[in-house]
Amino acid sequence: MRALVVHEPTGPGAARLEEIDEPAAQDGMALIDVHAAGVGFVDLLLTKGEYQIRPDPPFVPGIEVAGTRRDTGERVCATTLFGGFAEVAVAPAFLTFPIPDAMPFDVAAGLVINYQTAHLALTRRGRLAQGETVLVHGAAGGVGTASIQVAKALGAGRVIGVARGEEKTRAAAEAGADEILDAGGDWVAAVRELGGADVVVDPVGGDRFDESLRCMKPEGRLLVVGFAEGRIPTLPVNRLLLRHLDVIGVNFGGLVPLDQAFPAAAATDLFRWWEEGSVRPLLTDEYELADGARCLRDFAERRVIGKPVLRVR
Ligand SMILES: NC(=O)c1ccc[n+]([C@@H]2O[C@H](COP(=O)([O-])OP(=O)(O)OC[C@H]3O[C@@H](n4cnc5c(N)ncnc54)[C@H](OP(=O)(O)O)[C@@H]3O)[C@@H](O)[C@H]2O)c1
Repeated sequence: MRALVVHEPTGPGAARLEEIDEPAAQDGMALIDVHAAGVGFVDLLLTKGEYQIRPDPPFVPGIEVAGTRRDTGERVCATTLFGGFAEVAVAPAFLTFPIPDAMPFDVAAGLVINYQTAHLALTRRGRLAQGETVLVHGAAGGVGTASIQVAKALGAGRVIGVARGEEKTRAAAEAGADEILDAGGDWVAAVRELGGADVVVDPVGGDRFDESLRCMKPEGRLLVVGFAEGRIPTLPVNRLLLRHLDVIGVNFGGLVPLDQAFPAAAATDLFRWWEEGSVRPLLTDEYELADGARCLRDFAERRVIGKPVLRVR
């Protein structure tokens, strides 16, 4: 089969198209003929050897796919334990879900990690209540666009998206944010003028995290999702005491070994919301499997808008 293989984690260019053996069927795992594979920032970190899990090379990146399950013939989407950027992938059966008949494979591949993470962040971790205000950073990115839509589907009163530049602020609006602020402007003052945030979804980190603490309502929750900006922030905790704030970690992959049931419950909500029209992954760019390295480079150069998906077959 064709797959993108990393022999040495030196960055996006390390993911090269090769012919390798198909993975074998295993107990408890689903063998999937992949039609589309989602690409995320995590894959970039994997190719650089900077992700929290470092698979031994050679390895195939890619942690989310949509395709046809070999044993049942069902159309499914799945979270893979790497190996998604390939014509055939294996995924734990409990992370493999049949998709609605009308759902295209590229949409299904775009609805996996970011949307599952947004669901976990805003429900179980962030305890979002009806009518609350949600501030979303990286609002044109994968986790950001998903968080905007999941927050709206869960009944947020107002969703504020922060993104850099005209093209990205437009994408945040297209994703469904009610208010859009440019990351280059005084977004802290603007959020305060809007009454502050009850919940902040932060996949960016660095200054974005530090500054968010200045525009949250008392008893607000800041959800730590990622550090795309590169700096992992630190915090004098007296600020939490003074303003009654919570800072909460969110780790989709890390929760799976502790609770195998939560992704299925999230998938049920996400598929229903897709059928109702309230979640729509922003599939902005078209890439073939062979374009994987280019797509990963776009992540590294902060050029990605919405959710890229590799068309595999
Ligand atoms: N915790 C979890 O379970 C979980 C799950 C999935 C992903 N993640 C993490 O979430 C983060 C975002 O992932 P994603 O797939 O949404 O990435 P993405 O689509 O590239 O979005 C990240 C956003 O971060 C902003 N950014 C600021 N500085 C940046 C820089 N130096 N380089 C790149 N982007 C920068 C960009 O927005 P502006 O240009 O508008 O500022 C960009 O749109 C990553 O750290 C990823 O590892 C965590």
